[in-house]
Amino acid sequence: MAKVHVFDHPLIQHKLTYIRDVNTGTKEFRELVDEVATLMAYEITRDLPLQEVDVETPVCMSKSQVLAGKKLGIVPILRAGIGMVDGILKLIPAAKVGHIGLFRDPETLQPHEYFVKLPSDVAEREFILVDPMLATGGTAVEAVNSLKKRGAKNIRFMCLIAAPEGVKVFTEAHPEIDVYIAALDERLNEKGYIVPGLGDAGDRLFGTK
Ligand code: URA
Repeated sequence: MAKVHVFDHPLIQHKLTYIRDVNTGTKEFRELVDEVATLMAYEITRDLPLQEVDVETPVCMSKSQVLAGKKLGIVPILRAGIGMVDGILKLIPAAKVGHIGLFRDPETLQPHEYFVKLPSDVAEREFILVDPMLATGGTAVEAVNSLKKRGAKNIRFMCLIAAPEGVKVFTEAHPEIDVYIAALDERLNEKGYIVPGLGDAGDRLFGTK
């Protein structure tokens, strides 16, 4: 069964407050999302496997630990997910980056892929799928479907803010996938925005309206 991890680290919560603030401008918003993504990446990688190696220090030979060759992939859901990629790459610079673009059919309201580009060795990678907002859950569910369809076996999903409605939809659709969030908010409003949320993450990241 999926685990939902809510990060209560004070630095994450502090920065998230300024991310939410309507008076925070595009430049600062982008920098804060980047910083929170780095902090979340630190937490999310806690369980990566290690292997023992020999290391020669200036004093003697010693045994020490390095990451056990796990191949990581970061996959932002376009477009707002892009705002989280560099922050994660700061800690995991060797990770490959894929992209998934989805649009919502205006009639059926169902998400459809319009762009998918992933590293070639999909089945061997551990993917961190990222999107700042988990709102209705439809897009995230479809993004995981896209990854699975192409052979991805290990996926975790990371977002800044989630609505309970989205968490339910996502965890029911993909019960084996762990979800990492900085805040679980109250609800969705009638326009599909998370309350209190942060508004439209893409517009705030890229300065569009
Ligand atoms: N997408 C956003 O950017 N914001 C929301 O509140 C919900 C979905």
